Amino acid sequence: MQLLGLEKISLPSWLSWVDTRSTLVFSVTFLTGMLWTSSQRKKNPPPGPMIWPIIGNLPQVSREMRKHKNQSKMLQEFSKQYGPVISLHLGPQDIVFVTDYDLIKEVPQTNAFEYSNRPSDIFFEEFNHNNGMLFANGKKWEEIRKFTVVALRDFGVGKRSLEFIVQKEAELICEKMVSEKEPFYPKKYMGLAVANVIFNIVFGDRFEYDDPDFMDILAKMDFMARSVGATTIDRFIRILRYIPIDTPWKKVLRNRNQLEKYTYKKIEEHKETFDPNVMRDYIDLYLKITQEGHKYETLTEPHPFQTIFDLYFAGAETTSTSLDWFILYMIIHPDIQKKIQQEIEQVVGDGRKVTLEDRGAMPYTVAALQELQRVVSIAPTTVPHCTVKDTHLNGYFIPEDTMVIPHIASIHLNPKYFPEPLKFEPERWLDGGKLIKSEHFLPFGIGPRKWVGENLAKMELFIFATNFLQHYNFKLADGHPKPTTEGTNTGITMQSQPYYIKVERR
Ligand code: HEM
Repeated sequence: MQLLGLEKISLPSWLSWVDTRSTLVFSVTFLTGMLWTSSQRKKNPPPGPMIWPIIGNLPQVSREMRKHKNQSKMLQEFSKQYGPVISLHLGPQDIVFVTDYDLIKEVPQTNAFEYSNRPSDIFFEEFNHNNGMLFANGKKWEEIRKFTVVALRDFGVGKRSLEFIVQKEAELICEKMVSEKEPFYPKKYMGLAVANVIFNIVFGDRFEYDDPDFMDILAKMDFMARSVGATTIDRFIRILRYIPIDTPWKKVLRNRNQLEKYTYKKIEEHKETFDPNVMRDYIDLYLKITQEGHKYETLTEPHPFQTIFDLYFAGAETTSTSLDWFILYMIIHPDIQKKIQQEIEQVVGDGRKVTLEDRGAMPYTVAALQELQRVVSIAPTTVPHCTVKDTHLNGYFIPEDTMVIPHIASIHLNPKYFPEPLKFEPERWLDGGKLIKSEHFLPFGIGPRKWVGENLAKMELFIFATNFLQHYNFKLADGHPKPTTEGTNTGITMQSQPYYIKVERR
């Protein structure tokens, strides 16, 4: 999922719209902007790059993004220059990024912040209509979150049936990969396998990997994941929404609406075949509580249906990206791949599949997965949060309705907490062979909006990773360069750069 596709912003093209007549308007606005900017500065806002009237920090941000295509890296650089609370003005949108652990921890605990809120700007409204779990606020959010916790527990997490589904997808996808004749980039395979697990949870169904409907859905999700970033152009230059050209944002909304239609079709099918004694998935659980008369005031359509969409949109991208990075790190660290395989052999052997119950006896494997999540920071920032009152952070004034985004990667890569932070070292999570915890490890966010399905995500990563390595070796394809660990991050997830592998049966 990508939110800030800042690298696509091209200033000269839209500055060229300014003709002679509009110069006057522009100058007046410019001066007003200057006055506004200096009035804001007086209130001690967080520091950041110089603010241009109207366009704010778009020039600096677009320059950095063109250079690195890595928002996370840009934030680290800005943090070195401006400190742990940075203010960026992207057109009309002010965003405060927080990069220090103590401040990130402080924010959700400060009542004045009401930190659990999501911003309600037009971007989010158009995408989710203020429904679903990702972007809803207040009671609506509290209730859907409560219901989802129960639903995930009832249906999926910790249940043997879900583990079996993950094992099966791992096996099928490995068979596909091993039969590849040419070197390939494994990312698309991770997408297929993970999407099927999420579809099982929400729709009770899986697709064949070559099903055209599946391909279509995945292509739409992929487009959204890659292109939502470009929507920032529409967000900053809102006039683009009203002129009849097909912008990326319009296409994103079209795709989103088509996926919503698909979700509704599945819900209607469920209604026709619903049996209150057999719970197949998330949809059935919702239909059941509606029939029984539930206590939730806000759980009326389309709110729960938007949540179904959120679950597969937010869950598929993050988990498949994590597995893609897992393969990449196994290729550049064959010694670590071997150690995980040895642990699997010791604990499980090769007569049966690895299950979640084995996790406790496999600290090295768990340490390697934690280290992966730390060193990559799959979601380098959280989903945006928002202030609901004027407040202060680290002495800086932050007005009501400001978007606030904790930068988790800054914590994960801080040498104070993790010495030599760029080193991939599973051993740092082990003490005398036992796993150790760290409060500075925040892959699923922090505070009330932390991803409630952390156990589901951990279970998927563990079962996929171990089932991959139990019977297969992952190797760099002959003649291809060693993959880089330098990712690209134009939005929410950190993406690998294509690399080419071969998979061999052990
Ligand atoms: C390795 C996998 C995953 C990672 C790294 C991850 C990471 C995150 C992070 C950082 C947040 C933001 C928390 C915040 O805003 O403070 C989040 C929220 C969320 N994630 Fe995930 N996630 C993962 C897997 C999943 C899965 C499997 C699902 C769904 C099945 C999912 C669904 C969601 C939802 C719905 C939210 C919004 C929660 C809320 O606003 O209350 N995530 N996740």
